[in-house]
Amino acid sequence: MKRYMGKIAELTPEKIWRTVTNPWKIPARLSAPPSLSNTHAVLTLFPDLKESEAKTFRKEFKSDKKFFSELSKNMMEKRHQDAVWGGWYEFMFMVVRFSKPSIMFETGVFDGQSSAVILRALKKNGKGKLISIDLPAVDTIEESTHRMRDTTLPPKCQPGWVIPDYLRDRHELVLGDSKELLPKLFEKYPEIDIFFHDSLHTYEHQYFEYTAAWPHLKENGLLLSDDIFRSAALYKFCKEKNRNYVRIVSFGALRK
Ligand SMILES: C[S@@+](CC[C@H](N)C(=O)[O-])C[C@H]1O[C@@H](n2cnc3c(N)ncnc32)[C@H](O)[C@@H]1O
Repeated sequence: MKRYMGKIAELTPEKIWRTVTNPWKIPARLSAPPSLSNTHAVLTLFPDLKESEAKTFRKEFKSDKKFFSELSKNMMEKRHQDAVWGGWYEFMFMVVRFSKPSIMFETGVFDGQSSAVILRALKKNGKGKLISIDLPAVDTIEESTHRMRDTTLPPKCQPGWVIPDYLRDRHELVLGDSKELLPKLFEKYPEIDIFFHDSLHTYEHQYFEYTAAWPHLKENGLLLSDDIFRSAALYKFCKEKNRNYVRIVSFGALRK
């Protein structure tokens, strides 16, 4: 009952309208686990992690003045506004720091904030490579960038333009549709440690990416996804695989 009261408290008129017009949201929302704090979510995913270690990673992220000031400088130069930091970026940093991936995939780069956070964590780990895929968003992309503060890349900029130069040595950026590129990239990298979806949030595309990545994830590997309530894909995928996910607002994470 307490769990459902929490979900009811999260409802707004806009959310209610979106649910009425997309009925699959009812089972997806009702079966969703409660939203956790970043630290709690990391500790749930990694029972071996000590709370003190999680707190150290969190502090490491928050206190990295060089990283935030370079990103902010790049952002001000092109966007004339500072970066917006959603809560899950900190979670992403902690997860990459703790799990120390050798190979991590990301779909959906845009300016490069999430890539920068991942690359920052890889640099601290002293190992690992990030392979990122993006279309790029030269025009607004429905169900992908249309709800963002900026909906297209700045003129003449490549996806990932905001990433500080000192973090680029562990990055491979591949341009094109992830639907075409993922199968080819999985031939080159048949085993990966983490897959992160943040590209096109339609049911068909999200479900495609989760199912394409799953067989290539190592045992105990991680599947991460932003915007999990934009379609029923994660709800269906977890049911089929008989897995639970942890949630930070609308960001989901599960272990293989
Ligand atoms: C929400 S933004 C990514 C934001 C980024 N992950 C971050 O947090 O900083 C979505 C990105 O997905 C890309 N995208 C959309 N459809 C795609 C597709 N089919 N294949 C690859 N990338 C796609 C867009 O070009 C856009 O840059």
